[in-house]
Amino acid sequence: MALVNENYLKLPEYYVFNEIEQKINAHKVIHPEADVIRLGQGDVSRPLPDAVIRAMQNAVAELADVKTFRGYGPECGYRFLIEKILKYEYQTRGVNLSADEIFISDGSKSDVGNIGHIFGRDNIIAITDPVYPVYENAAIMGGRSGYLTDDDIWSNIVYIPCTEENGFVPQLPAEKVDIIYLCYPNNPTGIALTKDQLKVWVDYALENKAIIIYDGAYSAYIREDNIPHSIYEIKGAKKCAIEIRSYSKTAGFTGLRCSYTVVPKDIIGYTMNGEVLRVNGLWNRRMTTYYNGTSYVVQRGAEAMYTKEGQKQYKEIIDYYMTNAAIIREELTSLGLDVYGGINSPNIWVKTPYKKDSWRFFQELLYDAEVVCIPGDGFGKLGAGYFRFTGFNSRENTEEAMKRFKKWMG
Ligand code: MLT
Repeated sequence: MALVNENYLKLPEYYVFNEIEQKINAHKVIHPEADVIRLGQGDVSRPLPDAVIRAMQNAVAELADVKTFRGYGPECGYRFLIEKILKYEYQTRGVNLSADEIFISDGSKSDVGNIGHIFGRDNIIAITDPVYPVYENAAIMGGRSGYLTDDDIWSNIVYIPCTEENGFVPQLPAEKVDIIYLCYPNNPTGIALTKDQLKVWVDYALENKAIIIYDGAYSAYIREDNIPHSIYEIKGAKKCAIEIRSYSKTAGFTGLRCSYTVVPKDIIGYTMNGEVLRVNGLWNRRMTTYYNGTSYVVQRGAEAMYTKEGQKQYKEIIDYYMTNAAIIREELTSLGLDVYGGINSPNIWVKTPYKKDSWRFFQELLYDAEVVCIPGDGFGKLGAGYFRFTGFNSRENTEEAMKRFKKWMG
């Protein structure tokens, strides 16, 4: 008799973005003529940069020729891409890392979920509320969340409130935590942390022998000068932080899939007996066992982002999405709504009008205006009473969605 992993039963049947997709599809079945505009899930709409396309075409041609054909690649990534990451993402910001501290993967969603695999089950995990749902979902599925308390929260998870009152900036927890998930610029609130605000967390982690999992999927959207692009810009972070970065939002790879995770060799974890271990070695073991490497063609595409031409092209695309975000911010602000984010991030976090329940708001907006948002409580309890828009749709659709929204608000 095959037993299932019962931890899965502790979660709703569908992941929140699936649930939203199902509601959109149901609406379309009832209204086949529906012209739904999606400002919900952060999926990109601009085509890939030309430089990326050409690099991938060349890579495909190499695979078509017996002299240049390649089979399995290195599990943790090709050197040609890792070297570009070291140079353009880190050395330019004064951060020195070595090639064996970078692990190329197929998307940051996979890595933020999988990273828990190398940590023990008894860690106390800190996540913000609201939060990108994968951190909590993966902890629950992996049996690392403990038990559900009378207050309906997981005993191994400490929720750090990010609310209007604290400017959506996470404050240190009163209790001691071991693993801390931080995502900045933040999904969903769109808020970024300054160096001083991030330093508070690095200092805490160093003092408490904790490890920070830093999700930097939106770092390419940072506009303001005092915002760190990498957690390693903070002194001491190489001893306590794992950084996860993605090409999805940076260069339009949501469909192609490519990301990287940085696990510095100075980060240590402990066994129950107090033995000291390098976390880098554990992640290397996991990657080489569970993964056979991101495809050669895709890694060549990612590498092309760092050419002069590639950099110019991807930055233009980011500017395009950020202009959409500015349009959304402006329009919603002009309606008197409380609007956050959208300055160092394509995510815009908005209080629902008339304190409407987030899911009800999502449904009414979908049914009446055929515009999709993400209901705030899809990101946690403290997301209730908020919704999220993103700037990732086309300019035309963004403008049309705002027109509909204004008309709907009447
Ligand atoms: C989002 O909309 O929050 C993201 O696109 C989801 C993801 O990256 O998985």
